[in-house]
Amino acid sequence: MNRRDFIKKSMAAATLISGVGIGLSSCTRDLRSELMNAETMPQTLIQIGPDANKILYYASLAPSGHNSQPWFVKMISSTRWIVGSDKSRWLPEVDASNREVMLSLGAFIENLVQAANSLGYVVETSVVAKDRFDSEVVLLNISKSTEMKIPLQRMITRRTVKSHMLPGELKASDVNDFKKAAEGRLYYFPRGTTHSDHMAKEAVNNFIIQVNNEKAMVEMANWTRLKYEEIKQHRDGLTPDGMEIIGLAGFYVRNFMDKKDVMGKTFREKGIEKIETQVREGAGWLVITSDGNTMADLIETGRRFQRMALTAREKMIAIHPMTQTLEEQQGQKNIKENHSETMVPQFMLRVGYLSQYPDPVTIRRPVDWFVRM
Ligand SMILES: Cc1cc2nc3c(=O)[nH]c(=O)nc-3n(C[C@H](O)[C@H](O)[C@H](O)COP(=O)(O)O)c2cc1C
Repeated sequence: MNRRDFIKKSMAAATLISGVGIGLSSCTRDLRSELMNAETMPQTLIQIGPDANKILYYASLAPSGHNSQPWFVKMISSTRWIVGSDKSRWLPEVDASNREVMLSLGAFIENLVQAANSLGYVVETSVVAKDRFDSEVVLLNISKSTEMKIPLQRMITRRTVKSHMLPGELKASDVNDFKKAAEGRLYYFPRGTTHSDHMAKEAVNNFIIQVNNEKAMVEMANWTRLKYEEIKQHRDGLTPDGMEIIGLAGFYVRNFMDKKDVMGKTFREKGIEKIETQVREGAGWLVITSDGNTMADLIETGRRFQRMALTAREKMIAIHPMTQTLEEQQGQKNIKENHSETMVPQFMLRVGYLSQYPDPVTIRRPVDWFVRM
């Protein structure tokens, strides 16, 4: 055994003993602050003006599957923009129908509209895509109006939170506020209820299906960014912090693992253990539904989800999308067999109160990386 292997094995042993994910307090470098401040962001080369820059920066803080950031913005003029879907950022193995791409674009548009409103613009949106594989998706018409009081800070401090959810049920007033944000299309299943138990079981089972699917694992590995330089270079994807692999386990993953190891047995097994632990935590599950599956339905649902996620941030409530059940055939079949045709679930979200809301950790591309003139 050479020295590198020896260190690698020793670290692996220590990591396994201590478990993956030690606690939020043992965070490492604050990459969000390090990489996304004025000095470290790559220079904006495209001259689109400070307001457009600001609006698109806030939009880019939206969540997306695998943090793939599947958006681009085409500036037809200073007041007419197209939000588009970047094919190179689709996830064909886990999201073959591009359903989640559309939901992520919806979340991006929600942030964009709120940021524009707060800067004194109104944004008219119209879906121009005919199907989920079109590149141009939503046309935006922007015009000057009066500034609205909107707390933009929530967009900066919101994140996906997967651990340390408290067991208490959601208060009725909080569920009502979520329903308002989701325009009624939201259901809460408190922990311990039959529905909640089913959703937890399905999340684990469908995750296991996914980690045994080589193509899905290759896709996932391709979106992992384990090393600092790689994170800095791409500014997207799944980082150790984003996957909540922190403390000693995070140190090991960052320093001794590569994409090939992400495909390995240990990583897969640890992933399953993690999901099993996660589904035991929290206040239960939220489901966001839509009226149908049109392009407008999906974009609107992404917007409703993001409104709900921003509301959750204000309330110190963790939201963790667990999409595998909606992605896998087995999950889809079970949902279909147990619900009416009119029930169209689009998000399955673990939810729970937090005693401390952790800082965001995932990185975004700078505006001019996704603006096309
Ligand atoms: C449509 C959609 C599906 C997602 N599915 C999952 C999922 O199945 N599991 C998970 O851990 N996170 C999921 N996420 C969360 C993303 O991984 C997360 O938003 C992204 O990494 C950026 O991190 P942030 O939300 O902390 O900014 C999903 C997000 C969106 C918008």
